[in-house]
Amino acid sequence: MHDGGPTPAERQVSDEISPYSPDASTAAIAVRLGVRRIAKLDANESAFGPFPGVAEAAARALTETNRYPDRGQELAAVIADRHSVDQESIVVTNGADPLIGYLCQAFVPPGDDVIIPTPSFVTYRQDALRYGARVIEVPVRPDGCIDLPATLEAIGVKTRIIFLCNPNNPTGGYLPPSDIADFLDAVPSHVLVALDQAYAEFVGDEPDTGAVLDLSRPNVCYLRTFSKIFGLAGLRVGYIVGPTPIAHAVGRLRHWYDVTDIAHIAATLSLQQPDEITRRREATTAARLELEQIMRSNDLEPLPSVTGFLLAPTTAVATTVLRLEEQGVLVRAVVSGTQEYLRIAVGDADDRAQLEAALQQLR
Ligand SMILES: Cc1ncc(COP(=O)(O)O)c(C=O)c1O
Repeated sequence: MHDGGPTPAERQVSDEISPYSPDASTAAIAVRLGVRRIAKLDANESAFGPFPGVAEAAARALTETNRYPDRGQELAAVIADRHSVDQESIVVTNGADPLIGYLCQAFVPPGDDVIIPTPSFVTYRQDALRYGARVIEVPVRPDGCIDLPATLEAIGVKTRIIFLCNPNNPTGGYLPPSDIADFLDAVPSHVLVALDQAYAEFVGDEPDTGAVLDLSRPNVCYLRTFSKIFGLAGLRVGYIVGPTPIAHAVGRLRHWYDVTDIAHIAATLSLQQPDEITRRREATTAARLELEQIMRSNDLEPLPSVTGFLLAPTTAVATTVLRLEEQGVLVRAVVSGTQEYLRIAVGDADDRAQLEAALQQLR
């Protein structure tokens, strides 16, 4: 029987959004390609595992998997202390990724505008489309940093959210806090600015980076993740810090119990080790210099980056990615407009040696 309404298949989500498909494991990829070792440099992952003591604490927490998670407050307290904000301003989620959708759902009526940089983190576009927004893309500057004046110019009466990624993924470009503050002063108050600081800990100079977060503006919030320098991508934990009404809106949309206690405990213990953040940042800087050398000697000119990955303009990127993959080296193709790029994570010393050998094979 058909009652005249659209069928579920007809009420489709935009086909511009790629459907989820589980990644193949590196072990499965190695078997498929018949290679001994995979250098996995395609997903901006940390080459380091969890912080000292985290794996042991997480293993102990596994004995209580019959209980629903109840260690979230301890993590929120440590986060509040780190950024000098109230716990009311924080919502912890299963990675930073879902926060982007929660913000679109809460603050963007269908048909209104979301401004994003391009190239930048793919979820901004996907989630804005999911919630029926019109996406306005502002190209990054030639040095890979967000173009703040062009972003300001793109604002209109229907603009609801601006996603800014600083340092930016995939370019690695970074704008100093004073530039961002001037920009925020110029943004009209009807526009929410979500500052995605997934890679904040890789920035030098500040004490273990971005420590104090300014909540004096009612329309500015910050996204953070434990997936990058903290090496917890597989545990899925991130958070938003924002003025209380924004945090409450996200808190209403967030699903109960979607952050496990294993993740809560691992994240809490990680934040209690600021020296390890510094150590990893310094090691990443050294590794990035090595990767830069490897890329340059293979005719790739990476953009300036403060992060654990480099992006270089190239041509025929799909073929290059495939030919590197055949040699067990996974890297990411990025396409923005007519420009193609290769994005490569710094990895560990073995990964870089494998990458270097594979790039030489392509010459
Ligand atoms: C800029 C940016 N924001 C957010 C995320 C999502 O992080 P999470 O693993 O916490 O979902 C990523 C992951 O790559 C990212 O690059």
